[in-house]
Amino acid sequence: MIAHTRPTSLLAALRPQNQDRLYDFYRDLRDTDELCWDRTLNAWVATGHEVVSGTASDPRFSSVRYPDIEAVSEELRPLATVLSRQMLYSDAPDHTRLRALLSRAFTPRSVAALSGRITDAVDRVLARAAPTGRIDVVADLARPLPLAVICDLLGVPEQDRATLSAWSDPVAAAIGSSRLDAEESAAASRAMAQMLDHLRELLTRPDDRPAPHTLRALLAAGTEDADQDLDELLANCALLLIAGHETTTHFIGNAALALLRHPRAADELRARPDLIPAAVEELLRYDSPVQLMLRRARHDLDLAGRRITAGQAVLLVCGAANRDPAVFPDPDRLDFHRPAGRHVAFGHGPHFCLGAALARLEGTIALEALLTRLPDWRLDGPTPTWQPSLNFRGLTTLQVAFTPTTTD
Ligand code: HEM
Repeated sequence: MIAHTRPTSLLAALRPQNQDRLYDFYRDLRDTDELCWDRTLNAWVATGHEVVSGTASDPRFSSVRYPDIEAVSEELRPLATVLSRQMLYSDAPDHTRLRALLSRAFTPRSVAALSGRITDAVDRVLARAAPTGRIDVVADLARPLPLAVICDLLGVPEQDRATLSAWSDPVAAAIGSSRLDAEESAAASRAMAQMLDHLRELLTRPDDRPAPHTLRALLAAGTEDADQDLDELLANCALLLIAGHETTTHFIGNAALALLRHPRAADELRARPDLIPAAVEELLRYDSPVQLMLRRARHDLDLAGRRITAGQAVLLVCGAANRDPAVFPDPDRLDFHRPAGRHVAFGHGPHFCLGAALARLEGTIALEALLTRLPDWRLDGPTPTWQPSLNFRGLTTLQVAFTPTTTD
């Protein structure tokens, strides 16, 4: 594998000096070659928009993450076994069947019905912060809000949320890491097992009339089907809980930081709230919460002029594709007037994000409230730093100051 091998590994994106200049780093990779073999990660790395979006929806590739479960370390194997049953890591026909079932929780009606509760939750956070003149956008708003919303949607009682979140964190960290040590793998496997036990207990408590989109209703619908087994369903409920909050947390944090660093763009939105939906799309493109998707070649094949061997992994770098100048002219500029619809922040093809409408709704409400309620906000704390993950891009903290106000 000499040809098309890049000297710099994608792994270097994790170096602290590359975190705040991530998109320059990607540009250098893409300028060298938009599809290259990464010797360190033992995978192809795709950074161009065409190859990323094309491969995400190309039936010659599989989404199966662990094709040989026996090759996975003993510590990680319990987690890998559960992940392998989730739709995100499945192909048709399992993927099609699971997606049809879980989509029942995400009808436009059930998502839209959450609008009032999201607004109330955001208002409560901002009202608490108002007299202090300070808020940590990540810890106070971006982290608790999506968890509360996905739990509301799925009918998870309030007292269970903190524990579910504590289990979700190590699992999300494991999914996002390219190199896990034995201890981290074991901790993530343990956390997933605890989450599944808890969900099993929660979902089998008696309740005669579950609301139509809740986990319990999904369970009832799933178990009507004789082929549907409970463990598979629980694995997918866990996926909804994990995917439903970590990513949206990162989105709200990243978007707020972009607006703080572009005060004129923020002012434009304050003057023209009708631009907020377009701004949400542009902010998703500009600093994408999910940076990577993974596909594996089902058989030997050609892709963008390269020979890919059966079983080889291709890392699709959504964050780089979203800054490809071939599709987004002047890609490093935050511009709410771009033509809509071509970013791959929610993926592309059959695995397109199931929760996109919900994430958009939460982002719209949170950003609109931050912009209107904190008109003179400014960064006031340590320089923002990113969680160390190739897969997810999210801030550890985002401290902001503004003029305090009181309600009476
Ligand atoms: C801004 C927030 C979000 C971003 C950036 C995001 C991003 C993504 C991406 C890129 C994929 C495709 C992965 C692939 O093709 O390999 C995906 C899939 C998925 N997302 Fe999201 N997501 C977000 C929020 C949510 C929410 C709120 C939920 C709700 C539960 C959710 C649930 C899912 C599920 C279940 C899948 C798998 C779909 C499938 O395999 O068919 N996501 N998401």
